[in-house]
Amino acid sequence: MSNRLDFLLKQNRLWSQSVKDRDHHFFRNLAAQQNPKYLWIGCADSRVPANEILGLLPGEVFVHRNVANVVVHTDLNCLSVLQYAVDALHVEHILVVGHYGCGGVTAAFHNTRLGLIDNWLRHVQDVRDKHRTRLMAIPDTARQLDRLCELNVLEQVLNLSETTIMHDAWARGQEVTLHGLIYGLEDGILHDLNMPVSTDDELLSYYEAAVDRLFAASERG
Ligand code: CO
Repeated sequence: MSNRLDFLLKQNRLWSQSVKDRDHHFFRNLAAQQNPKYLWIGCADSRVPANEILGLLPGEVFVHRNVANVVVHTDLNCLSVLQYAVDALHVEHILVVGHYGCGGVTAAFHNTRLGLIDNWLRHVQDVRDKHRTRLMAIPDTARQLDRLCELNVLEQVLNLSETTIMHDAWARGQEVTLHGLIYGLEDGILHDLNMPVSTDDELLSYYEAAVDRLFAASERG
């Protein structure tokens, strides 16, 4: 095994050249400024890369990723990304993107002990416990896990909407909408969980309606 990064550096040169072949000034133009319309908050999972899934080039999406795409009110890392994206970059859409088959959600669901990360995944267990009765009524584990992946996204949209950053942005009339999405590892398709939030008003009723839709879909089979 080589301890050098020759392979990666070679890959990078090839990529850079291929971009320049399509647009000679691409990097020079982009170096001058970034103007992304979207903030992506997603899972750190290597199979869920933001730009690639959206088919977007460098400069088009601002990205924050952590294990199980969690938005925690004391996480200065996530909040700093959010504040910069909203206040400085004026993104128009914030996407919380979960994915089916999420290892973090699965570990949380089963109380699997993995180490330090258990403390982070406690937030996902809180989501599980919040919906425990309806989750446990679903007859098979695979579907319970799918629902928890989706519920975790809705919960993080709710958490985002309750940050001072979003409250302040909406109070001053800035147009920025939160969305919950979920990605299928098996087909590469993103699904909208239909909970667009662009104001504090009626937030909880939106959330409850979105949760009801998820469970209704499960009950239909
Ligand atoms: Co994941």
